[in-house]
Amino acid sequence: MQENGEDQRLPHHKNPPEYVSMEELEKLGVLYWHLDPEKYENDPDLQKIREARGYSYMDLLDLCPEKVENYEQKLKNFYTEHIHADEEIRYCLEGSGYFDVRDKDDHWIRILIKAGDLIVLPAGIYHRFTLDTSNYIKVYIHTRFFMH
Ligand code: LAC
Ligand code: NI
Repeated sequence: MQENGEDQRLPHHKNPPEYVSMEELEKLGVLYWHLDPEKYENDPDLQKIREARGYSYMDLLDLCPEKVENYEQKLKNFYTEHIHADEEIRYCLEGSGYFDVRDKDDHWIRILIKAGDLIVLPAGIYHRFTLDTSNYIKVYIHTRFFMH
């Protein structure tokens, strides 16, 4: 992506745009599946992934000001570069947004996530998240360990 001072919700394409292949993302340890978001409550494919990777805890995050406490602060925190000790698993059920990850040369790669996209960012990768200009996402969060 092109880093500039523009609104974080804009696509931030390079000029001309440069696209990253799934293989390149796989090399960074990023995993991706596309599932049917309508079936998320009872989806054998999702179930399989969950069991294979040991995801035990699930939580719905409906990212709109009415449903989220400290909405603005949360958005700021999401877009602050950070890493985790375990992988970050996000399944987009509605809306869209961007996960940015750093590649091996520390350049940001911007990943657009839409309904049906399940993405896993590996432990220890620098990343951040922002809404896009549609300004709405509903994500089904999976974790291995219970977190407060
Ligand atoms: C995050 C939200 C978007 O953890 O799930 O970045
Ligand atoms: Ni994170």
